[in-house]
Amino acid sequence: MSDARFRVDVFSAKPYDARFLDAAAARAEAPVSLVYHDMRLTERTMPLARGADVVCAFVNDTLSAPVLDGLSDFGVRLVALRSAGFNHVDLKAAAACGIQVARVPAYSPHAVAEHAVALMLTLNRKTHRAYNRVRDGNFALDGLMGFDVHGRTVGIIGTGLIGEVLARIMTGFGCRVVAHDPVPNPACLALGVTYLPLAELFAAADILSLQCPLTPATFHLINDETIAQMRPGVMLVNTSRGAVIDTAAVIRGLKSGQIGALGLDVYEEESQLFFEDLSDRIIPDDLFARLLTFPNVLITGHQGFFTEDALTAIAETTIANVTSFLSTGAPLHPVKAP
Ligand code: NAI
Repeated sequence: MSDARFRVDVFSAKPYDARFLDAAAARAEAPVSLVYHDMRLTERTMPLARGADVVCAFVNDTLSAPVLDGLSDFGVRLVALRSAGFNHVDLKAAAACGIQVARVPAYSPHAVAEHAVALMLTLNRKTHRAYNRVRDGNFALDGLMGFDVHGRTVGIIGTGLIGEVLARIMTGFGCRVVAHDPVPNPACLALGVTYLPLAELFAAADILSLQCPLTPATFHLINDETIAQMRPGVMLVNTSRGAVIDTAAVIRGLKSGQIGALGLDVYEEESQLFFEDLSDRIIPDDLFARLLTFPNVLITGHQGFFTEDALTAIAETTIANVTSFLSTGAPLHPVKAP
């Protein structure tokens, strides 16, 4: 390129992405030109990356074999994810076409863990309903009753960075914390967390929170069979990835009362919905529309990561991945195929 700058094409770019990435690139004096595309990366939009050296993608961008092949043909050599999760990348295809993949392994586990707690507390004490009632001059308390979180059992599936922070927070609430993870976390053990086989965890938890990655082993981990093993009236919170939950099964669980409350920050088919203003459109997804009808369901649009601290860290690590790739040929945090 004429100014010897490397071109980084940023997909699914919102104004806040540009603000934080521009600032991080300036602070690092990175020799990059950031080109922002507000649309998602798909087979259709991929040609926008013609001329790019690096593509920077987010959670709902498509990184399938055809897209990666196309990017490779354009000369793209690095996909820098602005996320921790990489379940949406065809890693075999990336390796086959010589594209390296980088991610942001840790930015703020606090952001996501705190959001999971926000969902729990809102569902429990119904502050979202109370807010509207009081503004409407309705000070009746019927329907707003919750329970003391203190003394309840919280089950955490996945005790990595986020799960550990959540375990600390819930311990602070005076909860008993039980967990399931193929690799127990020593910090959680030191905290007094008890690791249990899944069936025992389901039987024990009053509140169940998912903090595991989406893998073949966790795909539809929450299904008819596992819901039947849970405590009647369990509160289920998912801030991990949508497809860890079988949505149709959860709707059946809500209808029967087996699931007492559901908090979601992620949804299996969210790529068709989240991060866009669709308020003047018809939602074609009947499962999502059904979820919205339950008074005991609270959905946020994948905002667990959305704090100033996390966005600063995401931008800094993303720029560090790119500059490391430019100077050494390898990003700072490569994604390794599991
Ligand atoms: P991490 O890699 O530090 O921890 C994941 C933990 O899950 C590890 O301890 C791992 O052993 C465990 N795990 C793997 N397979 C499991 C299984 N079958 N059953 C139970 N546990 C299993 O990841 P981190 O940073 O804690 O993030 C967890 C997930 O949260 C990410 O993979 C991502 O999908 C999601 N996430 C969501 C965000 C949001 O905005 N809602 C933002 C960031 C991450």
